[in-house]
Amino acid sequence: PARPLTDGYGRRISYLRISVTDRCDLRCRYCMSEKMQFLPRRDILSFEEIDMIASAFVARGVRRIRLSGGEPLVRKGVVDLAHRLGRHLESGDLDELTMTSNATRLARHAEALVDAGIGRINVSLDTRDPETFRYITRWGELEKTLEGIAAAKAAGLEVKINMVALKGLNDDQIVPMMRWCASEGHGLTLIETMPLGRIDDDRHDRYLPLDAVQRDLEEQFQLVPLAERTGGPARYWKVEELGLKLGLITPLTNNFCDGCNRVRITVSGQIYMCLGHDDHLDLKTALRKGGTEALDRVLDRAMTLKPKQHDFSISGDSDTPSVARHMSVTGG
Ligand code: GTP
Ligand code: 5AD
Ligand code: SF4
Repeated sequence: PARPLTDGYGRRISYLRISVTDRCDLRCRYCMSEKMQFLPRRDILSFEEIDMIASAFVARGVRRIRLSGGEPLVRKGVVDLAHRLGRHLESGDLDELTMTSNATRLARHAEALVDAGIGRINVSLDTRDPETFRYITRWGELEKTLEGIAAAKAAGLEVKINMVALKGLNDDQIVPMMRWCASEGHGLTLIETMPLGRIDDDRHDRYLPLDAVQRDLEEQFQLVPLAERTGGPARYWKVEELGLKLGLITPLTNNFCDGCNRVRITVSGQIYMCLGHDDHLDLKTALRKGGTEALDRVLDRAMTLKPKQHDFSISGDSDTPSVARHMSVTGG
């Protein structure tokens, strides 16, 4: 591409995460508080605007786009948006279009997502115990999520399960989840809980460092490191005994920011250069006032502002998260 996006540390930005809504039909305890204030609808980007912004990034060398949220499938028309964005796959300008979803509404959309060009999907599933699932999500029904996952598989989507590791809540379910994912042919990624946004729980009590989990697993299984670093935060292992691809995302115990390849767009059109910082620039106003040229200039500025790394830490005080905004605003 002309003028590929490169940040101040020489990192090529080739991956864009778009939060298409900050809303969600669940309220996972580590993610949201029970009473969330969502953005007023007038502040959110239209699909046309999202499409224009995505195109500007593709023109500057972004090769992968992930739609996330909140829960992307609660926004009406998001499948049409995926179809639109899919034209960059057809033209060869994009390598991958993906989605991160909680799967509650996946059963009715899986086939259309495949039609749009989505080949794989990451699904949040922190437990397969119905009671624990309801507790973590506050009112979710495990059965619906499992149906969504089954429909995705049946439609031919590659599924990766995201499991946030939570002390005393799902630590005893890590190995069963590994076995289930292996038997279903899904990948599994374990994630350390990150201090984003006010929640009602104490994150310190729930925080489970994954370096310790890894040591436990290594006593039971042979974990063979896979060289592949996708520019994403996960490091991957093959669990020999199960034939499972296991990812670990360790923002707290093992920083991965040197290989960062990504930026994020919120549903209100702000670009965040890092999940762990509050700095952002306003793409929406640039686009609405100055069109695509103005947009392009903001992208250049954004590159100079991308920080070297996040500096998350889990302190004992859950009232002061490292970053005040919730993960659902920037799409994780
Ligand atoms: P693939 O590698 O493409 O499968 O996706 P992913 O793991 O990047 O995306 P997914 O939406 O499944 O997110 C998994 C977890 O990784 C979420 O908790 C994200 O918030 C977290 N994550 C993604 N990118 C970053 C990042 O740049 N920094 C940090 N600290 N966490 C990230
Ligand atoms: N820390 C870590 N992961 C989180 N997610 C949501 N909030 C947090 C948090 N505070 C996860 C979800 C989903 C992914 C996009 O981010 O479980 O799988
Ligand atoms: Fe919704 Fe995902 Fe947050 Fe759970 S983790 S409340 S499913 S956005």
